[in-house]
Amino acid sequence: MKSSRARFKEFRQKLRQGLLKGDRLIDPDAPRIDPPAGQGGRHSMGSGSGEKHTFKYSKRHLLGQYRVMLRGYYGAVFALMAVAIVSSVVALTPPYVLKLAIDYVFVHKPLPIVHHLSPGNLRHWFSDSPSHGLLALVLALIAAEIIGVSISWIRVLASQKLNYRLAASLRQRLHEHLAQLPLSQLAEYRTGGIISRVMSDTDQVVGGVQNAIVNPVGAIFRMICILLILIATNWKLFAVAASLIPPLVLIHLFIFRRLRPMWRNIQDDRGILSSRVSDLFSGIRVVRSFRRERSEHKEFGARQYLLVRKQYFTSILGRLLATGWSIFVPAIGIIIIWYGGELVLQGKLKVGDLVMFETYSLMLLGPITQMIDSLQNLQQNLGSLDRVCDVLNQTPDMPDREKAIAVANPLAHIELRDISFGYKPDQTVIDHINLDIPAGATLAVVGPSGSGKTTLVNLIARFYDVRSGAILLDGVDIRDIRLADYRRQFAMVLQDVYLFDGTIMENIAFGRRNANESDIIDAAKKANAHDFVLAMEKGYQTPVGERGNKLSGGQKQRISIARAILADPRILILDEATSSLDTRAEKLIQQSLVELMRDRTTIVIAHRLSTIMHADCIAVLVEGKIVEQGTHEQLLDNHGIYHMMFTQQFERHRDPALERIEWEKVL
Ligand SMILES: Nc1ncnc2c1ncn2[C@@H]1O[C@H](COP(=O)(O)OP(=O)(O)O)[C@@H](O)[C@H]1O
Ligand SMILES: [Mg+2]
Repeated sequence: MKSSRARFKEFRQKLRQGLLKGDRLIDPDAPRIDPPAGQGGRHSMGSGSGEKHTFKYSKRHLLGQYRVMLRGYYGAVFALMAVAIVSSVVALTPPYVLKLAIDYVFVHKPLPIVHHLSPGNLRHWFSDSPSHGLLALVLALIAAEIIGVSISWIRVLASQKLNYRLAASLRQRLHEHLAQLPLSQLAEYRTGGIISRVMSDTDQVVGGVQNAIVNPVGAIFRMICILLILIATNWKLFAVAASLIPPLVLIHLFIFRRLRPMWRNIQDDRGILSSRVSDLFSGIRVVRSFRRERSEHKEFGARQYLLVRKQYFTSILGRLLATGWSIFVPAIGIIIIWYGGELVLQGKLKVGDLVMFETYSLMLLGPITQMIDSLQNLQQNLGSLDRVCDVLNQTPDMPDREKAIAVANPLAHIELRDISFGYKPDQTVIDHINLDIPAGATLAVVGPSGSGKTTLVNLIARFYDVRSGAILLDGVDIRDIRLADYRRQFAMVLQDVYLFDGTIMENIAFGRRNANESDIIDAAKKANAHDFVLAMEKGYQTPVGERGNKLSGGQKQRISIARAILADPRILILDEATSSLDTRAEKLIQQSLVELMRDRTTIVIAHRLSTIMHADCIAVLVEGKIVEQGTHEQLLDNHGIYHMMFTQQFERHRDPALERIEWEKVL
């Protein structure tokens, strides 16, 4: 194991070699991880920001996306810009008021506005005493303050409202789109990646509206106002003072360019650390049983100290940056006082102007840093938008053909005609399969693991489309049927039951929209679930916990069967529904499965002889090909693989109901 010192040395080396691209340290060996979405373990992290170092779309295209996103919000955006401009003006008042006080009130001169007033009471009031002028100035300051506070109130609330609404609508779009993407595409994004796209990337994206549009408008406006005032006051003084600004900005950019990738890198490291912690504790039993606590802890320590070194290193750079600012900013002030003071002594500049100049020139730094920040944050915003667009531009799962037909009540006769399929182009998982499943019949598919059984039912459920050949429902190619209608004919019961975090009632109700309570209880009874549900503390209102972790495997499976019974499908797919259960639980479930299979076209993948024996047809699948097919008796007469399996294993046991096929012993 490498020490943290060695790792840090490597890190510095990479930094020096310029393995920086954009705002990220390109480290070919480092695991790719998400910004702290924190979900899932070490292996489910990934994709997200680490996935791509370069943008997939051009910045132009991405900025164009903001136009699309802001449709319907133009009014709000313009209002925000207007507010930014007004608040700039208000912020500029105090120094000018101070100048008026110094140059007029304190030297007992009437304020310049007095000359614009028509002779009358007001003019008299102003000329009466300098205190009146001072009072007027104070009132002006108070007014500016009140306007400033109200404006910032409006600005903050309006921009937050806009952000929340934009983020929500973007999230809505993403959510809808993701739910429709093909399974193969979703497999590319890992869970952590999807979560971070939907949650944090969307927030980042909407931040871009401020950074790309609102902030620059306000900042540029304020900058121009200040520049004009400074130049108008004394352009020579301006030229002298401004000469220090470019080097300051350059130093800032120079150091900042080095800091950013390190900040990102530190963030990544923290992500890795947190996923290691979550991994350690979700897999604590594995860790303990292999006695890996110590080595895990050591590795954790090394990573921690590496993080400390990196953090300290960035602190040093950060200090440099701060020092740069704290040298240059006072320097500007000093130069103004020196050169400006000379001008005052020569009578070329008023004292008030000098004070005002000093204040405004420092205020100039505000919009400059704001611009720098906004542009830099915009990079991040665009990075997130890039990932969001990547999802939104994927074509949804199998759009319906133009002439796709609706099916209402099919007989559910399924025919597979010479179908082939592979998940990847050069892979063949299903190899020229022909099968005919009459309406209401049961087909059992058996074969060793990895032979393509699950893939076959994935094709029948049209989670994927066949590469060649066709699947027909009542004689119609399923690709010519509207997908939603087709899927409505199905229910699937799978080996790894997925329950949602909710009550038992809600989980069963997932099978059919608008099912009422008596339907649900009815289904639970048929699935042999009613009794154990009632025995629970809150009955049907018992929460099942995350993924149903508060229930046993057999209980979960019975709930999923109840869900399928409630759905009342024409076609039923059972993929090793009972494989992970012990014999007793399996027996209980067997009865509910028989109930479920009655009068439906069923495709069952099972290891239990009793289920297989009574199927109308048994297909033996080996390496994607059907090597034997027929009824139990026919296959036994055939003296092939099935016969071999049966004689080898069944004869040793008397009770076929208890026996599973163990293919590894046969082949
Ligand atoms: N999503 C996937 N992407 C790529 N290959 C897959 C995928 N799912 C399964 N496979 C491969 O397809 C083959 C058949 O898998 P599967 O249909 O799950 O077999 P079975 O259900 O009979 O055990 C295996 O070699 C497996 O590695
Ligand atoms: Mg399988």
